[in-house]
Amino acid sequence: MQFKLLHKDSGSKARAGELLTDRGKIETPIFMPVGTVASVKGVHQRELREEINPDVILGNTYHLYLRPGMEILEQAGGLHKFMGWDRNILTDSGGYQVYSLSGNRKIKEEGVKFKSHIDGSSHFFSPESVMEVQRTIGADIIMAFDECTPYPCDYNYAKRSMHMTHRWLDRCIAHLDKVPFKYGHSQSFFPIVQGSTYKDLRKQSAEYIASVGAEGNAIGGLSVGEPADEMYEMSEIVCDILPEDKPRYLMGVGTPLNILENIALGVDMFDCVMPTRNARNGMLFTAHGTINIKNKKWENDFSAIDEMGITFVDTEYSKAYLRHLFAANEYLGKQIATIHNLGFYLWLVRTAREKIVAGQFYEWKTMMVKQMDKRL
Ligand code: GUN
Repeated sequence: MQFKLLHKDSGSKARAGELLTDRGKIETPIFMPVGTVASVKGVHQRELREEINPDVILGNTYHLYLRPGMEILEQAGGLHKFMGWDRNILTDSGGYQVYSLSGNRKIKEEGVKFKSHIDGSSHFFSPESVMEVQRTIGADIIMAFDECTPYPCDYNYAKRSMHMTHRWLDRCIAHLDKVPFKYGHSQSFFPIVQGSTYKDLRKQSAEYIASVGAEGNAIGGLSVGEPADEMYEMSEIVCDILPEDKPRYLMGVGTPLNILENIALGVDMFDCVMPTRNARNGMLFTAHGTINIKNKKWENDFSAIDEMGITFVDTEYSKAYLRHLFAANEYLGKQIATIHNLGFYLWLVRTAREKIVAGQFYEWKTMMVKQMDKRL
């Protein structure tokens, strides 16, 4: 994988870049739609490609390991072929999903014992097994196995956990050398910075992660309930230490505002369930604020869903129609809202990129942050 830094913003630490994998180009900053179980919920791959047009989507090791399972994915020739998606895929390692299982898992030095959320069966993930699983899934970018600490987190726990994540990283790297690529394309490996909300731990972790010289680096353990200012503070400390010539991926973030603020701190890649999950609950993100489409005020508003018309749904359907679909609990409502929100998120990062290249990012970001902070 190659990463080219094409432009640095003069008014902030924002960057525009280009990542080149065996499969193709990823223009950064990028937002990666989440496709947990080999599907971006509610969107056809064709719609995703043609309307939303992301260079990369995200898949999840934990979910794919449980269902459809490794045998099926191997028989299919990997996740790309299985789901009919020929662009880039990044898989998360399961470090976050396993953490969300709180009552149903036990973390030890050797790895994590957990119970499936589907049928309660027992499983074990280690740094080594997770690397093998990600080889079989066959994503273009794969993630280290880590522990995502909760918020708030006791200092001593955060410190011990961070050191374990670093030891797990060494084990991931040692094992990857022993397991060849399966489907003829290479896979880039990203380690993950942890350290909760403690400045000294974040610094230490970023230095350790930078020292392994990976092709890209990720920041984990944020957007887990901490105030936004703390997230930005941690993100800035870490970005200032991670190498400039490698992509930086902030995991699980966030709102449109969080994304713009983190781009300004030097983050290049994002993923979050928010545009898809919130869409299914009737929440729409727009450049002028958020809309709860279930609200009665839209009952007879026959104006376009979004005058900006980023995707076809925005101008082909009215707010009143979309509200009706939600009131009637029709599938189509959730699909329309999902396409709208993903279209908006991708527009946001693409426009950020254009503004960085044009030297106008800071002014634009300041205006957008104010403008988007409204409920319509
Ligand atoms: N997704 C959001 N946060 C995290 C994290 O800390 N670790 C992993 N593996 N995935 C995440």
